[in-house]
Amino acid sequence: MTYKPFLKWAGGKAKLVPFIMGNLPVGRSKRLVEPFAGSAALSLAVDFDAYLLNDTNADLIGLFQMLQSEKQAFIDYVRSFFIADNNQEARFYELREQFNAADDSAERAALFVYLNRHAFNGLCRYNSKGAFNVPFGRYSAPYFPEAEMQGFIAKSNRIELMCGDFQAALARVGHDDVVYCDPPYVPLSETASFTAYAKGGFDLNEQIRLAQAAQEAAEPSKGVLISNHDTAFTREIYKEARLETVSVQRNIAAKSSSRQKVGELLAIYGE
Ligand SMILES: C[S@@+](CC[C@H](N)C(=O)[O-])C[C@H]1O[C@@H](n2cnc3c(N)ncnc32)[C@H](O)[C@@H]1O
Repeated sequence: MTYKPFLKWAGGKAKLVPFIMGNLPVGRSKRLVEPFAGSAALSLAVDFDAYLLNDTNADLIGLFQMLQSEKQAFIDYVRSFFIADNNQEARFYELREQFNAADDSAERAALFVYLNRHAFNGLCRYNSKGAFNVPFGRYSAPYFPEAEMQGFIAKSNRIELMCGDFQAALARVGHDDVVYCDPPYVPLSETASFTAYAKGGFDLNEQIRLAQAAQEAAEPSKGVLISNHDTAFTREIYKEARLETVSVQRNIAAKSSSRQKVGELLAIYGE
């Protein structure tokens, strides 16, 4: 079965799934490893015997763990936050405060889903102290992604979760694995730089570190794929890989006037 992600996620790859799938050695590999899981669009869409999902964002992995262990009971708890009274500006800021102060892991995970659907553009951004700081989104009727969360649960007994740097996930790669790396995008230009992910940005040195680690991890595996913008920089750092390209419509900026078609590059190591 294939499912859609239940989270809105910057750089989410739901639209690119057919392109990525077309380049995955599906029949020859048993496990899909995603060191930069985000909303896990690819893992939810393709069928493997097992999945290893890693991300540095502890709230994201905490939420996945909660769905995995508490299942429908957790979905029912999340639903209690999706009421009309909570879709008001003052209430949003109270709940954002409650999220930032929450000690209880179920409460924090449920509020993370609430924030994902009620905050501006579905962004996930933290200040230097680690507090979630995205403003109110002003949606008329925020969607409650019940069916999509149930999709995640349906796969969850085949999913192993890790929270840390991508290198730790790549160190676990073995013979039966294929790896899909979806790092934060390189900027298209200096002014378009968009790094609204978990604390601690992903600069160009990190992109180079990933390209090197991917090439090494390709050796014991069935292949390592990396997606990124198609730029002179990415073509240079992935020059040892086979490259495939596709052009997609992307809403990188908040203003629709800034929507543009950009090239996506898929670097494939190990074939
Ligand atoms: C482009 S998003 C992945 C989107 C995902 N493929 C999807 O479909 O939603 C990049 C992800 O990398 C994570 N990340 C940033 N730095 C990382 C690092 N050093 N190691 C692992 N994950 C990292 C971010 O938290 C973010 O979720």
